[in-house]
This record gives sequence, structure tokens and C-alpha cells, in this order.
Amino acid sequence: MGKSYPTVSEEYKKAVEKARKKLRGLIAEKNCAPIMLRIAWHSAGTFDVKTRTGGPFGTMKMPEELAHGANNGLDIAVRLLEPIKEQFPIISYADFYQLAGVVAVEVTGGPEIPFHPGREDKPEPPPEGRLPDATKGCDHLRQVFVTQMGLNDKDIVALSGAHTLGRCHKERSGFEGPWTSNPLIFDNSYFKELLSGEKEGLLQLPSDKALLSDPAFRPLVEKYAADEDAFFEDYKEAHLKLSELGFADA
Ligand code: HEM
Repeated sequence: MGKSYPTVSEEYKKAVEKARKKLRGLIAEKNCAPIMLRIAWHSAGTFDVKTRTGGPFGTMKMPEELAHGANNGLDIAVRLLEPIKEQFPIISYADFYQLAGVVAVEVTGGPEIPFHPGREDKPEPPPEGRLPDATKGCDHLRQVFVTQMGLNDKDIVALSGAHTLGRCHKERSGFEGPWTSNPLIFDNSYFKELLSGEKEGLLQLPSDKALLSDPAFRPLVEKYAADEDAFFEDYKEAHLKLSELGFADA
């Protein structure tokens, strides 16, 4: 599937670069990279390739979508982002939330993910129930990422490595705790911890552990644990695809 990116004005490009700097400042000040990455992912991850509905199109600020169970806590991200968004009325929410996601990865030490502007905001939020359920296993992950979103097995494992950032909050998801001992650093420690088993103070969701039991997923977990550059390369590619689901398809 080729991409054909829309042309945006010089003024728009300039606004994106300024907004990028403001986002770096916000994330540094509030240590909020994890929830910025989560809002970008939950925005994009609702894309359904068959109906071409959902996806990274700025609908997450709508009360209806924020009320989806999977999005518990993301009102905080919307609220943190609003004072910066207000300074850049020219930028779509769709672009802005995805920009926040790539900046979150970059400033915590992860790969630099290319960003192409020009997404337009959609008027309707996606239906509830498209994001993955943490209590389920590999069939479910493939149903969501491959069948619904149109991504592949490698993308599933690479993107799961985003759990190198942040933590679970009991009052948001029912789970509690971080995946790694350095949850504000984007590195390959998620995969190392996954392979080394349960540890006091750290958490592994059923959907994380599922990656160990699948013959296609497990070799990728091992590769990324052993080779951070390989993880960053595949993560960059997978995150770029995620951030552009339903956008600029030729
Ligand atoms: C593979 C399926 C996935 C499942 C079942 C899943 C599930 C979860 C759950 C239950 C939480 C805890 C939310 C909370 O209590 O605050 C969480 C947090 C998080 N997820 Fe995932 N996730 C998945 C994939 C992803 C992907 C693909 C990304 C990004 C590319 C991602 C990024 C994050 C981040 C950064 C956090 C931390 C948020 C914070 O600290 O506030 N997750 N995820």
C-alpha cells in the first residue's frame, strides 16, 4: 500500500515544528511521555481496515470516546495537551495527538519516528470495543492488530515494546505497576524483563506474556531483548504505520 501525503502550507509546517518544541517542554516538565504515547496509540488503534472507520483522526477529545473503558485516564492527556493545542489552531487534533506520540518516544531516548502532517479531523468517534483486551492472548492480538488494523506479527511485538514506558494504574485499567524499572526511558528493557520472568514490583499483563508462547512472536521478543538497534528499527517502522492508519493511502 503506497502512501501519497497531502501538501500542507509553509505556515502549517512551521506550526508543527513550533508545536513539536512546546511538546518537548511539556513532556519534560510533567514527565508525561507515557500517557502521550498512550493517547496517540489509542487514537490510531481504533482503525478498521474493512470499513475504513476509526483511526488517528482527532476524535479522542470527544466525551463519547473518552468514556470508552479502554480510554480511562486519557482525559488527563487531552487536558495536558489543550493549552498547547490552543496556541496552534491551524494544526488538526489528528496531527497534534500523533505528533505528541512521536515526540514522547523521541525525548525518552527512543527512535526518531518520521512525522507527516495533513490528517483531517473526523466528526465521528469510532465505536467502542476495538482496542485490545489485556486479559486475552495471541488470537485476540492478531484479531485486533492484523485483521482489524491491517498490521502484521512483527508490528505486534515491536509495538508491545512501547510498554517500556509508563505503568498500569489500578483506577484506570484495574492493573497496577510498571513493566520496567525505568518507565520514563524508552529502551529494550520491556523485552529483557519479559524473558526474565515475574519480578517483585514489576508487572506483565496476560497480553504481554502471550508473546512468549507464540512461535512467531517469541523469536522477535528474543531478538529485541538482545539487539536494541533491531528493536528501534522495527519499532520506528511499526509506529509510523500505526500513526498513519487510514491516512494518505494511495
Ligand atoms: C498489545 C496490546 C496492548 C494491550 C492489551 C495494552 C494494555 C495496556 C494497559 C492495560 C495499560 C495500563 C493503562 C493504565 O492503567 O493506565 C497500558 C498502558 C500503556 N500502554 Fe498499552 N497495551 C497494548 C499495546 C500498546 C501499544 C501498541 C502501545 C504504543 C505503541 C502501548 C502504549 C502504552 C503506554 C505508553 C502505557 C502507559 C501509560 C501510562 O503510564 O499512563 N500499549 N496498556
